[in-house]
Amino acid sequence: MFEAVFSGGVVKRAIEKGSIEVHVHDLRDFTTDKHRQVDDRPYGGEEGMVFKPEPIFAAVEHVRRSPLTPVYLLSPQGRKLDSRLAEELAGHSQVVLICGRYEGVDERVSENLAADEISIGDYVLTGGELAAMVVVDAAVRFVPGVVGKEESVRHDSFIEGRLDYPQYTRPRDFRGMKVPQVLFSGDHKKIETWRQKKALEKTRQRRPDLLEHRPLSPEEKKGLDPIQEERKRR
Ligand code: ADE
Repeated sequence: MFEAVFSGGVVKRAIEKGSIEVHVHDLRDFTTDKHRQVDDRPYGGEEGMVFKPEPIFAAVEHVRRSPLTPVYLLSPQGRKLDSRLAEELAGHSQVVLICGRYEGVDERVSENLAADEISIGDYVLTGGELAAMVVVDAAVRFVPGVVGKEESVRHDSFIEGRLDYPQYTRPRDFRGMKVPQVLFSGDHKKIETWRQKKALEKTRQRRPDLLEHRPLSPEEKKGLDPIQEERKRR
């Protein structure tokens, strides 16, 4: 599964450049029994299987290079992944991600081994693998030198607490759908104001929660005014 994702795109290039290393480990390699069993039936009696603690502790102790290396368990019960967490992860020299499966993971892993749990959203995946890949992909963008201009990561939506402004490229007129005139004006200030306005409009419409706890800059206020006025008129 991991091969499919990490053998292409930005992650692959980051690995080739030596900006990051990704190592995938099979918990079965850290079992000691004949059947290489990583899970068992839950105490207390219920359906399904639960990950055993021993292979997970053994695997983490094997791969962790320093006691400072944070260990995270991927689970729907975790802290929701966002841009801030992705950036935080990119700041560590090593991060260990544990992928759970089946009904769950023995609680002693999250209590005594993992610093935290990470969720990629309020839905249940069949395993933590896809979630781990999402975490890696989101974090890698914050490793210096991975994304072309570091500036472009800084200006990404969410870092600035809002959605992106719309982008256009050629042709100018596609089946009668025209690129907004302002983008040909050559007036960078005007373009910037227009972009702020569009980004905020979109954020207002689709993700008003992002704006709730965020003060607006004077520039943004200028961009928002027409919307607020429109509202007042209604
Ligand atoms: N494992 C199963 N569901 C998950 C989720 N939403 N986030 C992270 N890990 C998971």
